[in-house]
Amino acid sequence: MPARQGERELPLRVTLVGHSAQASGAELALLRLLGATDPEQVQVEVVLMEDGELVRPLAEVAHRVDVLPLGRTAAGVGRARLGSLEALRALPAACTTLWRLTRHLARRRPDVVVTTTMKAHALGSIAARLLRMPLVWHVHDRFAPEYLPRGVLAPLRFAARRLPVAVVANSRATARTLPGAAVSVAYPGFAPEQALDDPGRHRDPAEPVVLLLGRVSPTKGQLELVRAAPWLIARHPGLRIRMVGAPLFGAEEYARAVQQEIDRHVLGDHVRLEGAVDDPSALIDAATVLVHASPVPEPFGQVVVEAMVRGLPVVATEAGGVPEILVPDGGAPLGLLVPPGDVEALAVAVAEVLDDPAGARRRAAAAHASAVERFAVAAAADVVTEVWRRAGASGHRAPRA
Ligand code: GLC
Repeated sequence: MPARQGERELPLRVTLVGHSAQASGAELALLRLLGATDPEQVQVEVVLMEDGELVRPLAEVAHRVDVLPLGRTAAGVGRARLGSLEALRALPAACTTLWRLTRHLARRRPDVVVTTTMKAHALGSIAARLLRMPLVWHVHDRFAPEYLPRGVLAPLRFAARRLPVAVVANSRATARTLPGAAVSVAYPGFAPEQALDDPGRHRDPAEPVVLLLGRVSPTKGQLELVRAAPWLIARHPGLRIRMVGAPLFGAEEYARAVQQEIDRHVLGDHVRLEGAVDDPSALIDAATVLVHASPVPEPFGQVVVEAMVRGLPVVATEAGGVPEILVPDGGAPLGLLVPPGDVEALAVAVAEVLDDPAGARRRAAAAHASAVERFAVAAAADVVTEVWRRAGASGHRAPRA
């Protein structure tokens, strides 16, 4: 319960535990979320398990940021290798971090502990349990076989039902991968400065530009887009494809494979892999269409919303959270949807946008109105604040294991 001081209720004290300080989607979503929370209602402190580019911007929106480094062996264990022998070898380092985290939380005494990544769920849940602090999992990834080894999936789903008092998921699609857990959906929101007030202000470039935004990863589909390129370039010889993002979390090998595919088709003048940028608004404004090519179900898909709120037409794969964004309440799609992994369908849909600009503009105008109404970050902050408040009021009462 937030303490009272005289008549005034003090803000709820929340400690958010994540492991990554890299600017990937989940971390950027949290940064915006914290920027939109009301400091009179919640005072958020952040704990990360590595130092990195996100620490400074987080420090601007959070009450305080602490870095409790995860030992190297534990930091190197990705989601795919959870439950493996390698994960076992990382155990001593993980125990050290658990000890540090528990000591840190014991000193800070937050009303609620919120964990935001797999490693944070694992370590933060144990620490919160030991300290009998209410725990909320904020989930950005689908608890599904494409993301997690089967051996750990069932125990993690079980943990999601037993350990946190509440779970926040970034889409209904993500929520559905946690059957039986007490899940609220809070869509990652866009900040006001990310949106154009009028989608009509978007101007197509003279020659078509296809934009794929997002970290370079097999889950984001850069390879599929490169494979769609030769056919598209044959139809539109002036076409350029810009793929903007960094190969985070050890995806350098995949980035090399994408570059090799570009070289193999001699597409270098038309197709570029460009490094990540802090603010993609200018790139969005300079494009003709945004392509979201994830061949596996995307948990949410923030770049789709980022394009919509600037009036840019979207082609996206129909899986995970994307249909919730582009087909609200089963109405007319606000962009073109294609089956995940289907290179031909992807090429045909991009061509449709380029060949029918009036149709694309109509959809983009409707998409803008719908996204502005549904995905403002203030709404996400309200949902999350309410979940945190209820969790704080519960004291420690996770369902009994
Ligand atoms: C993760 C998901 C992505 C989502 C983001 C914000 O990065 O992979 O789909 O948009 O979190 O919740």
